[in-house]
Amino acid sequence: MKVLVLNGPNLNRLGKREPEIYGRTTFDDLAATLVAHGRKRSLDVDVRQTNNEGELIDWLHEAADHGHPVVLNAAAWTHTSVAIGDACAQLTGLLIEVHISNVHRREPFRHHSYISAHATGVIVGLGVRGYEHALDFIADETQTDAE
Ligand code: DQA
Repeated sequence: MKVLVLNGPNLNRLGKREPEIYGRTTFDDLAATLVAHGRKRSLDVDVRQTNNEGELIDWLHEAADHGHPVVLNAAAWTHTSVAIGDACAQLTGLLIEVHISNVHRREPFRHHSYISAHATGVIVGLGVRGYEHALDFIADETQTDAE
């Protein structure tokens, strides 16, 4: 099963960007880890990142049209984008919202999400491991013991 792991703005700078908040794992290392983790769980994981909001919306439409499960860290757009929330509302597969940091322990503007109302579940504050937990949940939910 194909899973899209979609990442919004500034996440390409993981490892360099505020490491005390987001850790030292680079985006490329994270992507490689998630592809390998997915393979172990029979998931075909496609990890993408964009700094262009329209591109993320196009990817969400692609997931909606194909029924792909989505792991989404929309980064700052989480807190600002009605358009990304509207795109998430169209998804038909599982949607797991992930944030590396615990947004609820941070500034008040990070406490609201336009995505959560459309998400199957939300993982915050577990560092980059949150993405692996999201993939495990998707594997557990979508695969039977016989697979
Ligand atoms: C983030 C939290 C957001 O508030 C922030 O804008 C990000 C990353 C996280 O993964 O912790 O860019 O989504």
